[in-house]
Amino acid sequence: MPLDKESANAEEALARFKQRLDDKSARIGVIGLGYVGLPLALLFSRRGLATVGLDVDPAKVDSLRRGQSYIHHIPAELIRDQVDKKHLSAATDFSELESLDACIVCVPTPLNQYREPDLSYVSQTAESISVHLRPHQLIVLESTTYPGTTDELVLSILERSGLRCPVVPYDAATVSSESFGDFKSDFLLAFSPEREDPGNKQFQTQQVPKVVGGVNGPSALAAQALYTTIFERTVLVSSSRVAEMTKLLENIYRCVNIALINELKLLCLRMGIDVWEVIEAAKTKPFGFTPFYPGPGLGGHCIPIDPFYLTWKAREYELPTRFIELAGEINSSMPGHVVEATAEALNRRKQCLQDSKILVLGIAYKKDIDDLRKSPALRVIELLQERGARVDYHDPFFPSLHKMRRYDFGLSRIELTADVLAQYAAVVIVTDHSAYDYDFIARHARLVVDTRNATAGLRQHRDKIVHC
Ligand SMILES: NC(=O)c1ccc[n+]([C@@H]2O[C@H](COP(=O)([O-])OP(=O)(O)OC[C@H]3O[C@@H](n4cnc5c(N)ncnc54)[C@H](O)[C@@H]3O)[C@@H](O)[C@H]2O)c1
Repeated sequence: MPLDKESANAEEALARFKQRLDDKSARIGVIGLGYVGLPLALLFSRRGLATVGLDVDPAKVDSLRRGQSYIHHIPAELIRDQVDKKHLSAATDFSELESLDACIVCVPTPLNQYREPDLSYVSQTAESISVHLRPHQLIVLESTTYPGTTDELVLSILERSGLRCPVVPYDAATVSSESFGDFKSDFLLAFSPEREDPGNKQFQTQQVPKVVGGVNGPSALAAQALYTTIFERTVLVSSSRVAEMTKLLENIYRCVNIALINELKLLCLRMGIDVWEVIEAAKTKPFGFTPFYPGPGLGGHCIPIDPFYLTWKAREYELPTRFIELAGEINSSMPGHVVEATAEALNRRKQCLQDSKILVLGIAYKKDIDDLRKSPALRVIELLQERGARVDYHDPFFPSLHKMRRYDFGLSRIELTADVLAQYAAVVIVTDHSAYDYDFIARHARLVVDTRNATAGLRQHRDKIVHC
């Protein structure tokens, strides 16, 4: 059960929350069991804390209850083990919230059709929590969003419960529970950005420092205590807004730098310079340079979307975010560039795109993951089809392409044999999965359009390979 109402003093409430974390009697909830929420729920449950996963998707909840995984890189045994030990449970019923000490929100934050933030998932979740909110519960938002979402939107919805959580500045360097005096906060609210990098085998989730910012000091310290149970290092910042902006800075930094290198790639192609060789040489500089790589465009749930959360919010302050807009423009033109390069390569062979058979290799938005959200491969297929090409695809992770909000190709994966490869006028490598044998592909394909420098190591068949 969450802490009772009598202990309204923040210092006492915090001490009791920490005690419950220490003696493992605290119950943790994770709302939204997707790419972010499920690994997080598993981290808590593996620490021995009773963890409840809540999701509106009954299929996901059923899978977890049966000990099954629906995310490629999360083994089913891990889930089964936690479910069997009764450390992890899953539900669609939000009344479960009443039994929780802390609840972390990991629901989607997409853009709508006008490229504006769609916070409907966050709002709906806050409304569901508000109905069941209990004194001293800690709520943490992890969904990526613009600064102000936690202490404006989420807070106002949660306060419909009649409970209050005052927004009070604190100093991240000196805040401590002794400084709270008689300060009262009926519930606690914080923001802590997720820094998941799907497919990254170098860092495990718990090794990546966790940034935490509270709506007030007690909220910040409670959220820090919560994450200290599973993360090796936490970084306390002075507000939920700083934490929200930190995440956007990280993703905007990537988005802008990828756009820069994509633009330089276009120039290098015209100048006959290998941009990949340039990057390799530049990255030997031991300071002041971080390599970013060109590609067929941005994909995934984060980099193509998150920067525009800030662009939207910046309008309120009448400050245009020109770097972000320009980066978006350059990055979103890349699929078109791939299609143009394919058409040009065919043209040089006295062929045309119209009616040609084109094979797209790799549909996931990046290598070795089973996620095709916003993948540039989808736009490449669409543009190729618009130009009259007959497109097929192969991806080890997707036997067929299911209907999506924007795309419905009705395609199933072809088999990647020598005979099949030879049937296509061009093979376009969009995603450079490690499972591909690029030598085999180049040997049997008639023409290879390589958007990722996947064929860099090949010594033979260079005449068939076009970089773009
Ligand atoms: N995927 C990543 O690599 C990544 C990395 C960093 C940050 N993020 C951010 O984390 C957030 C979640 O992303 P994700 O990739 O896990 O999304 P996801 O689509 O994989 O998962 C979201 C889950 O939330 C559930 N959901 C939707 N509405 C709900 C509601 N009202 N109540 C309960 N559950 C609900 C969905 O059914 C789904 O299972 C987003 O804001 C995203 O930008 C994602």
